[in-house]
Amino acid sequence: MQNPKTAPPRSGQPMRIAPSLLSAKFARLGEEVSAVIEAGADLIHFDVMDNHYVPNLTIGPLVCEAIKPYATVPIDVHLMVKPVDALIPMFAEAGASIISFHPEATEHIDRTIRLITASGCKAGLVLNPATPLQGLDHVLDQLDLVLLMSVNPGFGGQSFIESVLPKIEAVRRRIDASGRDIWLEVDGGVKPGNAARIGAAGADTLVAGSAVFSGGRYRDAIDAIRSQALQGRHAMEGCPA
Ligand code: DX5
Ligand code: ZN
Repeated sequence: MQNPKTAPPRSGQPMRIAPSLLSAKFARLGEEVSAVIEAGADLIHFDVMDNHYVPNLTIGPLVCEAIKPYATVPIDVHLMVKPVDALIPMFAEAGASIISFHPEATEHIDRTIRLITASGCKAGLVLNPATPLQGLDHVLDQLDLVLLMSVNPGFGGQSFIESVLPKIEAVRRRIDASGRDIWLEVDGGVKPGNAARIGAAGADTLVAGSAVFSGGRYRDAIDAIRSQALQGRHAMEGCPA
């Protein structure tokens, strides 16, 4: 746990909620995007799976382009595809604002980050639950976002892997030490019941798929995750929520 006396205060900073479309009703995707934005979503999390890097197949640039008119908040594209480079300009063209990729999905991590930034998007690197943090060593300064997976990628509705909590704390320390405004996003099994611990560990952006879409009351779910996460952060920093 970070020492609240030495950590820079994050009390005034936002806690962003990014509903994952993986759990939305695909036959009505545009309406679902509008509904979660109306309910308070800060980003739209767009999970791209290729049946190669992960054992599932989802959506691509055409669908991103189709939802773009509904997405009045940034589209946060999470690429679970290998190889990854060829899709980057296509997603940038299709309306992505943030593009994140897994280091195992490219031969040249630095080149892939540069491709993303050159395409006009913010760049994110995704670490799986068992991927060591050393992958950040030589690239953190080029990143806009670190995405920590709290499930093994491939499916929505899995359980949060608790051993990711100390990893979130460690990445928070690295980001604070860098002095840069790098978002720390956590993805997988996030729900109101664990959001306080995830917020306390230092995340500032929470992806939630099943917790938002399966209940039907989108605003209640988004509000509950955000307020729990903020309470966790404030408790860790020793200030009132
Ligand atoms: C998993 C995806 C996640 C996931 C989130 O590979 O990257 O975005 O679908 O869904 P929940 O919140 O249901 O775990
Ligand atoms: Zn995702």
